Amino acid sequence: MYKVKDISLAEQGSRQIEWAELHMQTLMKIRERMSKEKPLLGIKISAVLHVTKETAVLMRTLHNAGAEVYLAGSNPLSTQDDVAAALAQDGINVFAWKGENEKEYYDAIETVAKISPNLVMDDGGDLHALIHDKFYSPNIIGGTEETTTGVVRLKAMEESGVLKYPVIAVNNAFTKYLFDNRFGTGQSAIDGILRATNIMIAGKVVVVSGYGWVGRGIASRMRGMGARVIVTEVSPVRALEAVMEGFEVMPIREASKIGDIFVTTTGNINVISVDDIMQMKDGAILANAGHFNVEIDVEGLKRASKNVRNIRPFTDEYLLPNGKRVYLLADGRLVNLAAAEGHPSEVMDLSFANQALSAEYIVRNRNLKKAVYNVPDEIDNQVAELKLSVMGIKIDQMTQQQKEYSKQWKYGT
Ligand code: ADE
Repeated sequence: MYKVKDISLAEQGSRQIEWAELHMQTLMKIRERMSKEKPLLGIKISAVLHVTKETAVLMRTLHNAGAEVYLAGSNPLSTQDDVAAALAQDGINVFAWKGENEKEYYDAIETVAKISPNLVMDDGGDLHALIHDKFYSPNIIGGTEETTTGVVRLKAMEESGVLKYPVIAVNNAFTKYLFDNRFGTGQSAIDGILRATNIMIAGKVVVVSGYGWVGRGIASRMRGMGARVIVTEVSPVRALEAVMEGFEVMPIREASKIGDIFVTTTGNINVISVDDIMQMKDGAILANAGHFNVEIDVEGLKRASKNVRNIRPFTDEYLLPNGKRVYLLADGRLVNLAAAEGHPSEVMDLSFANQALSAEYIVRNRNLKKAVYNVPDEIDNQVAELKLSVMGIKIDQMTQQQKEYSKQWKYGT
């Protein structure tokens, strides 16, 4: 079963997936083992993930491990239609196309929620929430969650006592957030901004809202390309860290007057308000790199504007009542996945190695409580070791003497 934009794109999609496989050798090693051992035999998986060539490599891996997979997109704009077609042809049940409207998006998620899965694999928490609300079944062994926003939602469910199955927070693995959130978004958000606008970064004032791992990545890469970077934050610790990294830190109300490009990364709502936008320079560019399209007040901007025009793909011009123009990218949705292709394969290799191994872990450990778990250290370390080995990088081992020294508490100098 599938619902994709155009099944005739399958051949092109397969070549894209092959390209991703070439750059995802950690996951390919895991696939090699799982294809023999079939740890997911008989397991039905509902997945809501961005339908990209990298996700396709994960889906093929789960499929080869014995699972029956149902996949919907995790954002109305992030699906790569050729990849979706190729997956459909591979026997993955995929329900996703680029440019879904809100109803189509939720209908697709409902389609995969309804299949009475054993494993629930989500990016952002919409699938977990829907299954808890309407489609829970005791066949569910557990789930995984890919991103910070989803983990925050699941922890809230756990704390209010409504979580119905164990979930592994894949996002919280060191080999996920230190790489995907930081280096992945650091590169792909800029890729999205550049594909949408083709502007020069050097010499621009870039305002990054939020100094979590995503904000850190974008701020550092923007600086590397010659931007002057301002960080806005609500956490004193993170703000201090940004200051000591050498970034300017100030409230958004002040930064809004100075910035050329604004990128939101907070996971929170109305971080850039219409009042902030009214203060911006003529020509300011607004982009969001957080999971949901709530960080920039897009509805308020639409209401306040005198005119809206599409200028280029993923770049809309808003004419403000004060005569100034601002440019909103990808309608305030995830700029890296909407205007570009998301994170590069090499970094998704780490994230999805964690997904595959976490799925296997849940199936092999049926005694987990209804709680949010971190990825076990053995998996995190295994992913790092595998990645280093496929990169051809060797590291030192502790000597016996060093192992003993690191465990004693008696001796100082
Ligand atoms: N999230 C960010 N980049 C991604 C990608 N390339 N594939 C799937 N999910 C992603």
